[in-house]
Amino acid sequence: MIKVAPSILSADYVNLQQNIEKVDKAGAEYLHIDVMDGSFVPSISYGPGFVKAIRPITKMVLDCHLMVQNPEHILPAFIDAGADIIGVQVEATQHIHRALQIIKNGGVKAEVVINPGTPVAMIEPVLHMVDQVLVMTVNPGFGGQKFLPETVEKIAQLNQIKKNKGYDFDIEVDGGVNNQTVVDCYKAGATVAVAGSYVYNVADPAKRIQALRDATK
Ligand code: DX5
Ligand code: ZN
Repeated sequence: MIKVAPSILSADYVNLQQNIEKVDKAGAEYLHIDVMDGSFVPSISYGPGFVKAIRPITKMVLDCHLMVQNPEHILPAFIDAGADIIGVQVEATQHIHRALQIIKNGGVKAEVVINPGTPVAMIEPVLHMVDQVLVMTVNPGFGGQKFLPETVEKIAQLNQIKKNKGYDFDIEVDGGVNNQTVVDCYKAGATVAVAGSYVYNVADPAKRIQALRDATK
């Protein structure tokens, strides 16, 4: 069964606490927090203050996906805010190794993220040091986009490297994930599924979380 990471990006922010509690009670393992800077991606969402505000109200793993140019500067603020996992896009920094070192030295789990147009080879030199790899299954920037099936091959490649080298990082997928698209991801080796609109654009998120689990039994 895949671990489920509802993306708060698609929730109604007026009732934020209630919307976090809904997925927490439904047993979602992670809460996915999409940080967008208006530069690496066109949208602007929220920053470390948002993570700090959420931290006291849930024990869920706070899975912070930084879609931020030159993330090195802002990493300490996310570490201090109480993030459990921090993901940096390999395309957003000239110093991916250093960025991951900063996260790990802060006692937080480190994740590297690759866009649909980025090959697995780009992150091979840092795979020994990450706790999680995020394979984007849409181009980042917005919720509610269509899943790109050509990204599934990269999940399989990563899973193969994991086996060959004895690594134990999680493989997360993000974008256009629903109870159908999650199946091929899971078969290819994905262990964590982010889902935004699929979980939050309905009255009962718990049912959608369960549907993702049922699809990956
Ligand atoms: C996209 C974000 C995603 C987004 C997913 O840039 O990284 O986490 O919230 O939304 P859905 O599941 O609706 O594609
Ligand atoms: Zn995301």
